Amino acid sequence: MTKPQPLRDTKILLGVTGGIAVYKSAELCRMLQRAGAQVRVVMSEAACRFVTPLTFETLTGHPVGIHMFGDTGGTGGTGGVISHIELAKFADILVVAPATADYMARCAQGRANDLLAAVTLAHEGPIIFAPAMNTGMWRNFATERNVSDLVENHGWHMVPPGEGHLACGDQGPGRLAELGDILDAVCAVRRPKLMGKKVVITAGPTAEDIDPVRSITNRSSGIMGCELARMALYHAALEVTVILGPCPAEPPWGSRVIPIRSAREMQVAVNAEAETADVVIMAAAVSDWRPATISPEKLKRADGTISLPLVPNPDILGELGARMAGRDRPILVGFALETDNLLDSAQDKLKRKQVHIMVGNMARDALESATTEAVILEDNGAVWESGRVTKTELADAIIDRISRRFAQS
Ligand code: C5P
Repeated sequence: MTKPQPLRDTKILLGVTGGIAVYKSAELCRMLQRAGAQVRVVMSEAACRFVTPLTFETLTGHPVGIHMFGDTGGTGGTGGVISHIELAKFADILVVAPATADYMARCAQGRANDLLAAVTLAHEGPIIFAPAMNTGMWRNFATERNVSDLVENHGWHMVPPGEGHLACGDQGPGRLAELGDILDAVCAVRRPKLMGKKVVITAGPTAEDIDPVRSITNRSSGIMGCELARMALYHAALEVTVILGPCPAEPPWGSRVIPIRSAREMQVAVNAEAETADVVIMAAAVSDWRPATISPEKLKRADGTISLPLVPNPDILGELGARMAGRDRPILVGFALETDNLLDSAQDKLKRKQVHIMVGNMARDALESATTEAVILEDNGAVWESGRVTKTELADAIIDRISRRFAQS
């Protein structure tokens, strides 16, 4: 299976304005290209003070646009004179990272006093911007007003700055968002396979408490569920909710997270969210049993051998499948993690849990790993084997199967 290229056939104009975060824009340029995009770059004059245009010219194989007119020259590269209309027409998406306070202020006013501002004004497609600046500038009333104007009135998509140590020595909001989050935002705008859909995903293990400090859990990293959430956002889902058990994986920026611990907490959340969902994907490793009682005090080692009666947890997906049987919404997707007889067990679960899609994988391949080998079974008899893939690639394939069902109906 080839790597997913969510930005294949996408033309992106990367606008780079002048702040210290410019050094990260070169890596963003590479990431966009790796995701399949054709990238051209426009820099402000101030940005050229931080990183030379030659860097971007070398990465993209194209001249970098800088000046409106030919008489300003002196970029060290091609001279940087490209028509702003030509550039605006080239771009499916304009991505500005970093976006300075001044650039945003000028755009909020509709000014066109340098090449990038002129292209921005002429561009008719989506604009994604990632502000980066000193905390004081970011919190300034005028900046706040300009940002909300661009988002609320101009329809721009913002990837907000993160918090942390800034290059100027201050601590607070203002640093450029993670490049992966910017890439996610670009993909979300581009690939509308789940446009407008509400997707609910369970991820990670559940923890069933024994006493205040101990629990029974599953060996689940949460990576599969979080990658599904990332891919659902790539494909422009309207809302992605991750019902997340205790695990190290981090759901993607832009998803809504409902943290839970036990299977019963997960069931309450799943049932509430499923009412309005278009898709429910149960990627969590739910504990099949829980202790019959939770000791209010910590159990003592001095108690010696203890026995722990376990009672079965509800089968969240099975009960949901039974309740939704015969309905084609929400599309229900389950996971079957097996140690043997993968195909037979997955086929059996597809029917028994009354789901539309069942993804089977072997525990030895998938547990706590970034890669897996899976089989996707559908209730219409379709079978698809993945071979060894990353969980991101598998998530992309699962979303693809789901989107085909929407396309058919
Ligand atoms: O029956 P089994 O645990 O193998 O089924 C796995 C699928 O069912 C997964 O999608 C898992 O999230 C879901 N499940 C559930 N409730 C349980 C156990 C598993 O919803 N108690």
